[in-house]
Amino acid sequence: MKILLLGSGGREHALAWKISQSSQLEKLYVAPGNAGTAELAENISLDLNDFKAVGDFTIQQDIDLVVVGPEQPLVDGIHDYFQSQPTLSNVTVIGPTKEGAQIEGSKDFAKSFMKRHRIPTAKSASFRTDQLVDALTFLENQKAPYVLKADGLAAGKGVIIESDLAKAKKALTNMLNGQFGEASGTVVIEEFLTGIELSVFIITDGKNYKILPEAKDYKRIGEQDTGLNTGGMGAISPVPFANREFMDKVENQIIIPTVKGLKKDGIIYSGFIFFGLIAVKGDPYVIEYNCRLGDPETEVVLPRLKSDILELFDGIATDTLSERDVEIDLRTASTVMMVAGGYPEKYEKGKEISIENTDEKTTVFHAGTIIKNNKVVSNGGRVIAITSYGKNLETALKTSYKNVEKVTFDGAYYRKDIGKDVL
Ligand code: AMP
Ligand code: GLY
Repeated sequence: MKILLLGSGGREHALAWKISQSSQLEKLYVAPGNAGTAELAENISLDLNDFKAVGDFTIQQDIDLVVVGPEQPLVDGIHDYFQSQPTLSNVTVIGPTKEGAQIEGSKDFAKSFMKRHRIPTAKSASFRTDQLVDALTFLENQKAPYVLKADGLAAGKGVIIESDLAKAKKALTNMLNGQFGEASGTVVIEEFLTGIELSVFIITDGKNYKILPEAKDYKRIGEQDTGLNTGGMGAISPVPFANREFMDKVENQIIIPTVKGLKKDGIIYSGFIFFGLIAVKGDPYVIEYNCRLGDPETEVVLPRLKSDILELFDGIATDTLSERDVEIDLRTASTVMMVAGGYPEKYEKGKEISIENTDEKTTVFHAGTIIKNNKVVSNGGRVIAITSYGKNLETALKTSYKNVEKVTFDGAYYRKDIGKDVL
């Protein structure tokens, strides 16, 4: 198989790492990729928002399958573009159509979908810009803390949780008045749920599905989950409290109704679904859907997938996903994200990165790196993810932290408490 993988983060390096282990792989291109993917594949400079350029490259190189890492091209309809072009419609796209991607691209869509298919989630109501007065009245009648969500993609900044009613009203007003542009033209006001979060992933062709290892990520910049939100500072898999009984509830109450719901609604879906869940007194609720894998969750999920990922992709291509096996490594995987000093606020790029020999149980995934003048330099806020295996969480974390010391760049920062809350 000739594969084109789109994206440039740690998730894409982990995908490239997993894809390159397949005996079915003929050639792997990553666009635009990073310094890590360059070691495994051929990086191609393509603008992911330019579907024609991606399509032309696909035709020129006779690509069989395109794997879309990030959400934006999916929400913008890259799958639909491929379907609409006679010369591309036979190429398999791993990633849903524009309509399917709405499960992430519109919180309002996701909420209606969950209500329609009786999928457990926080109670909510949605308001448009022209309903500001009604929205404020509704908010006054809710209990604190107040959860406000911009409907559209807002680079991870679109969720505001506020305990003070006056501040929440101000935030709601700002949002509906365009704080996040079109993304907050509609705002979802949601009941606050108290519990512990985790992420569950499936691969699906819109009819059948396979469950991948679950993960827990650490979103805040500061230890003990304090400070600003980031893309994710680390992750672990498996999640200790996600026992058999809990995962059965996730499958029966959330995964099955979601896949059935997509089918019933006539939504064409191929690719991954990321269920952002919260366990409330042992019961799972959906906090959010994503139409892709997570980052840095992928850096622990794929290392625990023993099966050939191209077998699963081929299952989607040939409508035989139900016949494919998913075998899971019973070891624990942990990843610790090394970020640029200042991130998630202002930070510098272009710092030279030195990577010494790491343990055999460790894989260094590049999240934001580039090759410049034959040197690996930082090229983003999240720079390097150090993934390690262990027979349990404690040993996996110990190995990740030991190997963090082997990667150096000016201003590097990482959280020292990944996984500690569940140890
Ligand atoms: P989201 O982008 O929808 O995943 O929200 C970002 C984060 O806000 C989540 O990971 C949760 O920590 C928190 N959050 C979102 N919705 C709720 C809710 N209804 N109750 C409690 N926390 C929430
Ligand atoms: N780590 C969270 C995400 O990928 O959305």
